[in-house]
Amino acid sequence: MAEFRIVVLASGRGSNLRALLAAQEAGRLGGARVVCVASNKPHSAAVAFAENSGIEALAYDPRDFTSREGFDQTLVGLAMERKPSLLVCAGFMRVLSADSVALAKGRMINIHPSLLPKYPGLKTHERALAEGDREHGCSVHQVVPEVDAGPVIAQARVPVLPGDSAEMLASRVLLREHPLLVATVRAFAEGKLSAGPEGVACRGIPLHAPLSLDDDDCLSEPR
Ligand code: GRF
Repeated sequence: MAEFRIVVLASGRGSNLRALLAAQEAGRLGGARVVCVASNKPHSAAVAFAENSGIEALAYDPRDFTSREGFDQTLVGLAMERKPSLLVCAGFMRVLSADSVALAKGRMINIHPSLLPKYPGLKTHERALAEGDREHGCSVHQVVPEVDAGPVIAQARVPVLPGDSAEMLASRVLLREHPLLVATVRAFAEGKLSAGPEGVACRGIPLHAPLSLDDDDCLSEPR
């Protein structure tokens, strides 16, 4: 079987990247392998971690490019040259321009810290608290040109507890982001999930509702 190759796009601390690599090492990523980390932040912890782990890092500063589109097309174009089966945005804090998203042919996913379609964009934990939500969580979705608006593939839920600060809630969500991203990537690598320009399918059938992360850190299908 062809190798399931992953390019991770990351901009910051890189805890989701580390979770993917730990799962790969432990044989819990369905045989998938992270072949490259691409970044818009050359000095980020994510890039340093990739380099220290012997993984190719493609890291460029957008300020060295003459246009936004030029940077995005270069980064995604170089990522695609690594022949990825899946591109995984894991804390990639940049809105890619539409032409660069198209280069990925629907095979780009992103992890977002809210139960989409609630709270696309930034400050999701603050917004969930301000709304008085009793439940919050994280989503993995297919990347489309509109920010955080692609089909939602899988979600994990956490309670909002009395007295929560945004930081406390963010930590609780992050603890579920890692297994959610690992389980979703594993489902792609094992062929349960597939994604392309036409959307996302589960066992060959268009996904009609997000999968949920269960207590065993596996994805359950909607009924
Ligand atoms: C995560 O909460 C992710 O959902 C959001 O940014 C954060 C990145 O964390 N997009 P890390 O860099 O993976 O630690």
